[in-house]
Amino acid sequence: MPACVHLHNALHVSPATESLRRTLDAFRAIEPKITWRRREDTTGTASENFNDGHANGMIIGPGGIELRSDVWLGVTLMAPKTRYPDHTHAPEETYLVMSEGEFQHGESSWFSPGVGGTFYNPPGIWHAMRSVEKPLLAFWALRPCTGRANSTD
Ligand SMILES: [Fe+2]
Repeated sequence: MPACVHLHNALHVSPATESLRRTLDAFRAIEPKITWRRREDTTGTASENFNDGHANGMIIGPGGIELRSDVWLGVTLMAPKTRYPDHTHAPEETYLVMSEGEFQHGESSWFSPGVGGTFYNPPGIWHAMRSVEKPLLAFWALRPCTGRANSTD
């Protein structure tokens, strides 16, 4: 995946806490096992560089390293200055952001959680993210209500 050339730089951060450092170390260890994939821009809201400027990986969930349907844990990597499309899905979702980058959900303005920042997406809310001058790296966790969701992160 072209966007994966940004993985090294995305991981070149200095988290403020030991737990975040351990999270990144664990991610580095399992990253070679991740199958990186693209998603489509079905809303026409992504940036022009989106197709080659992003990669999604499932860690736990369908197509992930650990196959299960009740909890999904995935990761998104984006090249600098890339906008992810507006999207929505039934499962509620939380993000753990590991880089600079901006996010938007519902009627909110764009906001920057920062490295180690988290936020919550209620079921069905429209949301998006965009990288700034550096690559964006964020983990997302979903809890599908039925064991089958209709969209990934
Ligand atoms: Fe999402």
